Amino acid sequence: MERGVLYGVAAQSQSPIIIDPFDTSFLNYSLAVIAPAGSGKSYFTKLLALRHLVAGTEFLVIDPEDEYRPVAEAVGGTIVRLAASSPHRLNPLDLVAPDSGSDGAYADPLAQSIAVVLGRLELLLCAGADPAALQVSLTSTNVRCLTRRS
Ligand SMILES: Nc1ncnc2c1ncn2[C@@H]1O[C@H](COP(=O)(O)OP(=O)(O)OP(=O)(O)O)[C@@H](O)[C@H]1O
Ligand SMILES: [Mg+2]
Repeated sequence: MERGVLYGVAAQSQSPIIIDPFDTSFLNYSLAVIAPAGSGKSYFTKLLALRHLVAGTEFLVIDPEDEYRPVAEAVGGTIVRLAASSPHRLNPLDLVAPDSGSDGAYADPLAQSIAVVLGRLELLLCAGADPAALQVSLTSTNVRCLTRRS
């Protein structure tokens, strides 16, 4: 294995253990960290994340206990909070919280979601193409159907 990151030191030989989890000689990229409670599993995993980041590997963490926030903040990572009250969303068809307009009245959340989805679809479909040459026919009726089915 020519590449890899430091995973630890062998207990007996004291030689460094350097592993590239994406090496093609492995059957898959999975890794399980198993050890007694309080023995350093989280510490090891965070250290591994930092070492992999330095090596150029993206690290995504599902973190229900919010314990990786300081690590993510230290490396300029993006923290996505998934909750009904959160402004962040993974599903582009999720309803957005309505903004109050200049007159203080709240806009229709469905209409706002449709506008957001339409904008994203136009952006995706026109990426790399000449917008003038590409005919994109998106109507709010199409998106209303998508929104209802999700
Ligand atoms: N190599 C290390 N050097 C210094 N401190 C460490 C090391 N490994 C773990 N610790 C410290 O030991 C404590 C327990 O570590 P950690 O939380 O990583 O254990 P854990 O196995 O994830 O625990 P749990 O089973 O509760 O999730 C923490 O305070 C951590 O900072
Ligand atoms: Mg832990």
